[in-house]
Amino acid sequence: MADTPVDTSRYVAFEGAEGAGKSSVVRRVAAHLERSGEDAVVVREPGGTAVGEAVRDILLSGELEPLPRSEAALFAAARGQLVAEVVIPALARGAWVLSDRSAYSSLAYQAGGRGLPMEDVRMMNDFAIGGVWPGTVFLLRVDHATGLRRQAVGDRIGNETDLFHADVTRTFDLLARDNPESFVIIDASQSIDAVCDEVIEVVEHLRGGP
Ligand code: TYD
Repeated sequence: MADTPVDTSRYVAFEGAEGAGKSSVVRRVAAHLERSGEDAVVVREPGGTAVGEAVRDILLSGELEPLPRSEAALFAAARGQLVAEVVIPALARGAWVLSDRSAYSSLAYQAGGRGLPMEDVRMMNDFAIGGVWPGTVFLLRVDHATGLRRQAVGDRIGNETDLFHADVTRTFDLLARDNPESFVIIDASQSIDAVCDEVIEVVEHLRGGP
C-alpha cells in the first residue's frame, strides 16, 4: 500500500537482463509520448538524484565491494530517494514516468542473483518507496548469452558470472508470471523498431486509445 494515494498508471518501468536494449527503448517511447503532447520524465536506477548518483557510484564503480545485504539496502535507498524526489511529484502533475529499471530489478538481482530472501528484499523496497511500485513493467526479454554479447562494458554487477545472470533472467520470468496484472513481456531479440512498436501499442492503450 502506498503511504499517500498516488496514481501509478503512468509509472512505467523497463526491466530486463543486461543488453536487453532498455535505455534506447525508453528514449524512443519518451519521444513518442512527447510528440503526442504528453509530459514524459525519464529516470534511471540507480541514480536520478544527488543521493542516488552518489549511491550508484558506491554500487557500480567497482572500487568498493558492498556485501549482498548492504548492496540491496543501497539500491533501495537510492530508489526511495528517486521515488520521493522525482517520481511522485511527476505523477502528481500528470506526467508519465519512464523508468530504466525499478524495484523489480532488486527482486531479480539481489534476491534472484545474490540469493537473498525474496520476501525480505520485497519488504525493504516497499518500505523505501512507500509502496509506490510501477503500474506497468515491460520485461524486455533476451536470453542472457545474447544480452551479454550486446552489452559493451559491464559494471561491477554486469560483470558477474553467467550463472548469476541466468538466475536473474529466470527470476524476471517468475516475477512476470506472478504479476500478470503489471508485467508485459516483450521479445527483445527482435529489432529495436519492432520492440518499440510493441511497447508503444501498449502505452497507447494506457493512454486510453483504441
Ligand atoms: P544499469 O545502469 O541499468 O545498467 P544496464 O541496464 O545497462 O545493465 O544497471 C546497473 C547494474 O545494476 C546492472 O548490472 C543491474 C544492477 N542492478 C541491480 O543489481 N539491482 C537493482 O536494483 C538495479 C536497479 C540495478
